[in-house]
Amino acid sequence: MFILVNLKAYPCDPIEVATAAREVSEESGVRIAVSPQAADIARVAETGVETWAQHVDPNGHGSHTGSTLAEAAAEAGAEGTLINHSEKRLKLADIDGSVRAAERAGLETCVCANNPAQIGAAAALGPDSVAVEPPELIGGDVSVATADPDIVEDAVEAAASVDEDVEVFCGAGISSGDDVEAAGDLGATGILLASGVAKADDPRAALEDLVEPL
Ligand code: G3P
Repeated sequence: MFILVNLKAYPCDPIEVATAAREVSEESGVRIAVSPQAADIARVAETGVETWAQHVDPNGHGSHTGSTLAEAAAEAGAEGTLINHSEKRLKLADIDGSVRAAERAGLETCVCANNPAQIGAAAALGPDSVAVEPPELIGGDVSVATADPDIVEDAVEAAASVDEDVEVFCGAGISSGDDVEAAGDLGATGILLASGVAKADDPRAALEDLVEPL
């Protein structure tokens, strides 16, 4: 199971979370990555934790003021990137372009989607993984695996019908080891979560709880 902690734009200390994630990953053997703001990628990567960008744009080098360049994210230490997160939606052509840009830069890719139909479309673009996150459950207290288990199973089926090599993650409302275990039982091989760690009083304890059943 892969655990990707998206720090969004929360006012947490990215170094505290990254250091805790690296230590809990080393102690548990569970793969844990942290996805900070683009401006924090380099210093988060310096902690030794696996670091992901929250977004990259489709463009390469050139006259693209304000863009998040995949090559720059990789140079700063990112190993992967989210694309089309629910809070950073892209047009289909730009999702495709961002996946290609990330591949050129050597970044692992995870394309997010709202539902199984979109998961099928996302999988057709050939990312390494897709992630289903029902927007209405994001930031809430109820895990997607509890509130809407069908959406996870249907997403796994939709991705497999397009490309069996594309891994399927899920996210929204996940905050405990039980939630992670339930997601795994539904066929997800990774989870995305944010508030359960980024807004926790003790991020390290939250991470330890997440990996406890694994
Ligand atoms: O990227 C993960 C995220 O959208 C889920 O957020 O706060 O429900 O864990 P949260």
